[in-house]
Amino acid sequence: MISCRVIITKTMLKVVLAVLLTGTITLLFLSYSSEYFLYQSLQEEDDAEFMRRFDESVEPFLNGTNDLSLEVFDWWKALQPIEEQTLDSYQTVVESLLKTFPTISKRPERWRKCAVVGNSPNLKGSHYGRLIDSHDMVMRMNQGQIKSYEEDVGTKTTHRLMYPESAQNLDDNTHLVLTPYKIMDLVWLQKAFTTGYVGTIRNLAPYKIQANKNLVMVINPGFIAYVYHTWMGKREHKYPSTGFLAVILALHTCEEVSVFGFGADSDGNWTHYWEKKKYKNLGTGLHYGKLEYFMIEQLAAREKIYFFKKSSPITKDLPM
Ligand SMILES: *[C@@H]1O[C@H](CO)[C@@H](O)[C@H](O)[C@H]1NC(C)=O
Ligand SMILES: *[C@@H]1O[C@H](CO)[C@@H](O)[C@H](O)[C@H]1NC(C)=O
Repeated sequence: MISCRVIITKTMLKVVLAVLLTGTITLLFLSYSSEYFLYQSLQEEDDAEFMRRFDESVEPFLNGTNDLSLEVFDWWKALQPIEEQTLDSYQTVVESLLKTFPTISKRPERWRKCAVVGNSPNLKGSHYGRLIDSHDMVMRMNQGQIKSYEEDVGTKTTHRLMYPESAQNLDDNTHLVLTPYKIMDLVWLQKAFTTGYVGTIRNLAPYKIQANKNLVMVINPGFIAYVYHTWMGKREHKYPSTGFLAVILALHTCEEVSVFGFGADSDGNWTHYWEKKKYKNLGTGLHYGKLEYFMIEQLAAREKIYFFKKSSPITKDLPM
């Protein structure tokens, strides 16, 4: 009796293992092939079809009169749901923001030649510094460093995109461009310029920030939703990285866009050019690095942007 039971259990175990294994292989195959077909189909779109994503009517910046639908608001507030957030409380915060930063409601200027400078290690040894500095607008992201990397990344910064947790003090000529992922980020902006912000354990952000108050800009949450839904096709339960937002932002606000410092290093590792730490994962945290990179390559292939990769000539870079 006992040995019979053991035999049955072993057989069952084998069956269960076989089912699990087949299931896993099938899932892996399905996810690989759906990704393959996704990239394949994006590549096969003609230019007009691909650029149908570009919607000029979406205002990149918060200006106090943007209409934010409840649907878009609900999507946005779910990104970092650390507190109770309602459309009413959002609107109240925006109104009070306009009092501290009256220039937010002015129409932003349009730029001629823009450089979007990412933080990829492929900038190291690129000697792109002078080329980057020759642009009218130079957009950098978060903690992107300049000191001791001037030759490769340049020295000029006209705009720096950041969220509170990645914020740093800026000089008087740089636009602080806040990318808000929750209402608290807007509250932080106002307090960091006035009374000081006291964060919580779950929301660490600097108490004060030094930057030119009249150059503050805030990305419209509706724009973040647009980049996610339209340019990333709502794929993955992730949201656009600051870098990818900056590329689409430049597409909306500049006549000519050059993109530097995106992608993994030559070994396929992802990190920042000033860091030693390396990440093998293309998924890069909450963002979908691989799809974003692919979309940037597509924009370059379709001659909407110039994409500079390491050791590529200082001309148009046509990938694939
Ligand atoms: C503010 O944004 C809305 C759309 O969100 C736009 O219709 C309006 O023209 C913008 N106003 C300014 C001053 O830029
Ligand atoms: C970075 O790339 C090298 C070469 O491919 C690899 O040996 C190394 O393990 C990678 N580092 C990490 C942290 O994945």
